[in-house]
Amino acid sequence: MVSYLPLWETLSRLGVSKTFLAEAAGITPSTMARFSRNENVSLTTIEKICETLNVQIEDVVMRENQGSLHGTFRPNKHEPVHRWYPYLEGYSRQLVEYELRDRNPGDVVYDPFAGSGTTPLTAVMNGIDGLYSEVNPVMRFISDVKLSCAVHAMDGDIDLSGLRRWRDRIASINFNDINSHQGNALGDFSRFFDADGLVGIQFLRECIDEETDESTKDLLKVVLASIVVPVSLMIRRGDLRFANAGERDKSVLPFQDTTISKIDELLQDLERMEKSEPGAFRFVSEDVRDSNLDECVDVVVTSPPYLNGTNYFRNTKLEMRVLDIIESENELGGFYQRGITAGINNVSSRREYPCLDELELDDLVERLQGKSYDTRIPVMVAGYFADMKQAIDKIRSALKPHGILSFDIGDSQFAGVHVPTHSILDGMIQQAGLRPLGETVLRARRSRNGMTLTQRVMRYVKE
Ligand SMILES: C[S@@+](CC[C@H](N)C(=O)[O-])C[C@H]1O[C@@H](n2cnc3c(N)ncnc32)[C@H](O)[C@@H]1O
Repeated sequence: MVSYLPLWETLSRLGVSKTFLAEAAGITPSTMARFSRNENVSLTTIEKICETLNVQIEDVVMRENQGSLHGTFRPNKHEPVHRWYPYLEGYSRQLVEYELRDRNPGDVVYDPFAGSGTTPLTAVMNGIDGLYSEVNPVMRFISDVKLSCAVHAMDGDIDLSGLRRWRDRIASINFNDINSHQGNALGDFSRFFDADGLVGIQFLRECIDEETDESTKDLLKVVLASIVVPVSLMIRRGDLRFANAGERDKSVLPFQDTTISKIDELLQDLERMEKSEPGAFRFVSEDVRDSNLDECVDVVVTSPPYLNGTNYFRNTKLEMRVLDIIESENELGGFYQRGITAGINNVSSRREYPCLDELELDDLVERLQGKSYDTRIPVMVAGYFADMKQAIDKIRSALKPHGILSFDIGDSQFAGVHVPTHSILDGMIQQAGLRPLGETVLRARRSRNGMTLTQRVMRYVKE
């Protein structure tokens, strides 16, 4: 399979936009779309690009396996254990494996923003030790269970009889018979489900209560967290929202079949796991800024929150409710102040700007103040960089001398003002005493107002 990753890197290196390239080389929008989807295009088109940019073919196209760095979660949907919980904000096992290619058993990897645990899980499944921090209790739980199950399965020490029993029980039930007996089981969260979803979710929660074996209970909870959005009236499109009438037929899945397929997926992954020596894993802290790792980490592979307004807590509110982390939506507010400021809900309009002098962001914040449709945007941007500065200091302390940092990040825009997140963070990382080793642009993204934004991995070594 071909990949046009080199083209996106070349455009970024030359500071040329996709629109400019299309116009200058006379490439139609449909052909440009083929590039974005990594589909075949004619050699004549590639030649035109080479001529326009004055570059070689290898600056435009490569074979996928030459360096398949997937910056999205999508490839994980086919990967054992990684696939259990679909995390839109995650990256792929392949990306982590590429960053860990020179590592050996005994090395220690740390992800200060672990999300669904892609980094520590990839490390541990390759015999390398994985440490992680994660502030969202849902994501921490998912990572904990994935890691401990993978390790037990690799050791050949996992008992799946409990999960198999529940699978058979759920398959044998006629859920139509119990529909009428259900009330307002999830309080103000009931409105996010139709009758089938609500009955099913409540049934699964009762199974979990009844189960006495802790590891079977945890596996059932992962199933519950993984199916709760698919069987609800909600859909994840960037943020979590109600599916509209046109989307519902495809997006609202039946409880029973969805749950059984998910349990089968877990069983299959654990039954087929190759026996080998796993790495050890350890949860370090909720907030990376509370971590206290002192020069014990060989490599950090991570993707911090993107500065794009994503509310990492609200996006998992259904999971938080069904796992009994919250009881009502009002409790979500208490979580917004935790973690790195990255979404508008992390900010109150009365909140002061953090000390901008030190961050040298005055100019950017001033431009945002002039243009922003919401007064909280400049506060959010300043807050993000102030928080990230503290996180970077912790990452630096965690790394051994000569340790490596691989950092996946994208830039942003608000009200037409470009926020060069990658270069501001690059400045902070270098100031903290890490030397750049180069970067790879993974893909170009297009913001709603047409600005070209990029996702890239930046690499550093601790001097
Ligand atoms: C881009 S996601 C990482 C996804 C991860 N690479 C994966 O593959 O699943 C960023 C994560 O950072 C977490 N986070 C935000 N602030 C944090 C903090 N201060 N300490 C630890 N984790 C934090 C968010 O909850 C989110 O899960």
